[in-house]
Amino acid sequence: MNIPRQSAWWKESVIYQIYPKSFYDSNNDGVGDIRGIIEKLPYLKTLGITVIWVSPFYRSPMADNGYDIADYFAVNPDFGSMQDVDELIARSGEMGIQVMIDLVVNHTSDEHAWFQQALADPESPYRDYYIFKPEVNGAPPNNWRSIFGGSAWEKVPGEAMYYLHVFHKKQPDLNWENPALRENIYAMINWWLNKGIAGFRIDAITFIKKDQDFGSLPADGIDGLVSIKNKARNRPGIEIFLNELKEKTFRKYHCVTVGEAPGVPLDEYERFIGPEGYFDMIFDFHAADIDVENGSEWFRQCDWGVKEFRETLFASQLAFIRAGWGTSFIENHDQPRALSKLVKDVNYQNDTGATALAAMYFFMHGTPFIYQGQELGMKNFSRSDISEFDDISSLDNYSRSLAEGFSADETMAFINRRSRDNARTPFPWSNGSNGGFNQGAKPWLAFTSDDFSLNAQEQISRENSVFSFYQRMIALRNVAFPETLIYGQFTPLNNVADDIIAYERCSADARILCITNLSSKAQPFALPDGEILLSNNDNMTSPLQPYQTLLIKVHAKNEQI
Ligand code: GLC
Repeated sequence: MNIPRQSAWWKESVIYQIYPKSFYDSNNDGVGDIRGIIEKLPYLKTLGITVIWVSPFYRSPMADNGYDIADYFAVNPDFGSMQDVDELIARSGEMGIQVMIDLVVNHTSDEHAWFQQALADPESPYRDYYIFKPEVNGAPPNNWRSIFGGSAWEKVPGEAMYYLHVFHKKQPDLNWENPALRENIYAMINWWLNKGIAGFRIDAITFIKKDQDFGSLPADGIDGLVSIKNKARNRPGIEIFLNELKEKTFRKYHCVTVGEAPGVPLDEYERFIGPEGYFDMIFDFHAADIDVENGSEWFRQCDWGVKEFRETLFASQLAFIRAGWGTSFIENHDQPRALSKLVKDVNYQNDTGATALAAMYFFMHGTPFIYQGQELGMKNFSRSDISEFDDISSLDNYSRSLAEGFSADETMAFINRRSRDNARTPFPWSNGSNGGFNQGAKPWLAFTSDDFSLNAQEQISRENSVFSFYQRMIALRNVAFPETLIYGQFTPLNNVADDIIAYERCSADARILCITNLSSKAQPFALPDGEILLSNNDNMTSPLQPYQTLLIKVHAKNEQI
């Protein structure tokens, strides 16, 4: 597919996501903090990334670990102060690293002053900042189920009224139909942009428009409720809000915007990321959610094969390319660890599996994202009791699964496999006490394992570590072959064995083949003559070994493979 070569700084970025609560606890209170990020900037520089995306650090009661904001202009005391954030921006900038932050504007915390005033006084102008509706026959206004379980409506104490929450009841939805609310949000966004942040990852943004009939639909679960996604995700009319948002904020700055945009079909990508799109990039979750039906409840598991995964991945890639620019990722703070999810043979859930996944996704057409710990090859934990979990979505999926009739053991297996806590455990910096996360205080969430042999310090100094592999990938993409690996034409190779994922990047400079065997069986593949740029196995001849990945600069005399 031929695309016009249009450069942009964010296309050339490699973005590293930091979950601040679990990155580095500099003051030994059990919770990671902004100063911890500042202290670890040299580590990030050594890795080679160019942008950090920091998950929410705003003041918050932490019902959803900061995705429930009580004050957009304040830093949660656990994380530090606004001065620390200013210093993070400045120090990162000196090191050539930009700071992107999370923008959560579908909802606030119920502890936000707007909501407190809305609750306290039905006549307050802030009541219309949220979505309040009268009860119907003593029951909630309709049968919408929230993303985190149960009715999406919460009763207002002492009134025959309910308020809407797409997510948790401590995350009341903002009423985007209200122009005054929108203006307030835009002012807040511009305040942050003026501070010098590089841009935003925009949380749950496809939920801001609700069908104004607020009608019930036939139930889709034994709780008599229906997923709110049918009435409040990427609904008609959202374009008006998203265009206005862009015009009044992002467009005026040299910033980057990455929308979390679940529920957007591939043929609508143009609207979101086309030349006149709302954002620079969006995340596509079709491949990440390959193991659960429609990315929905975790007990609705899907069996999937590599061929299906490959087709899903490539369909997203091609949709991105048709519309604009893409994002490539295999992990984030809402997903389990990729090594546990995507490498089915446990014997290869090791450095080999981790590097196979790494090269498989990293060289696709789009900006690559790395989630903290992915660069070490971290895996899921295995916990035995629901009391060991913090994540509200894990707690909800647990009770929903039991209610749907699954046994306690089956349910625990679903939760272990999918829990968002898997990615949120404290980062293992060293083999020392508490894995070097802090000076020994009990961390807010238990470690993935008490064996800290997998740690950053060990990997930095080992030439064949997962960390070193990521370093090499970044250097190949950004330093050695930017014309090809960033801007080159992307061609999926479909005529390969079912368990292989292969694609080619091509520019006037070079033709580079990326090929990965995502199975534990050797796979036939006719390797072209060329220079091996990267490999996770000493074998350089066909067949490809289990979970082998190769990046080959194809010699000019080879015809199209
Ligand atoms: C997004 C976030 C997730 C959060 C939810 C509600 O999906 O990534 O962590 O729970 O929005 O804000």
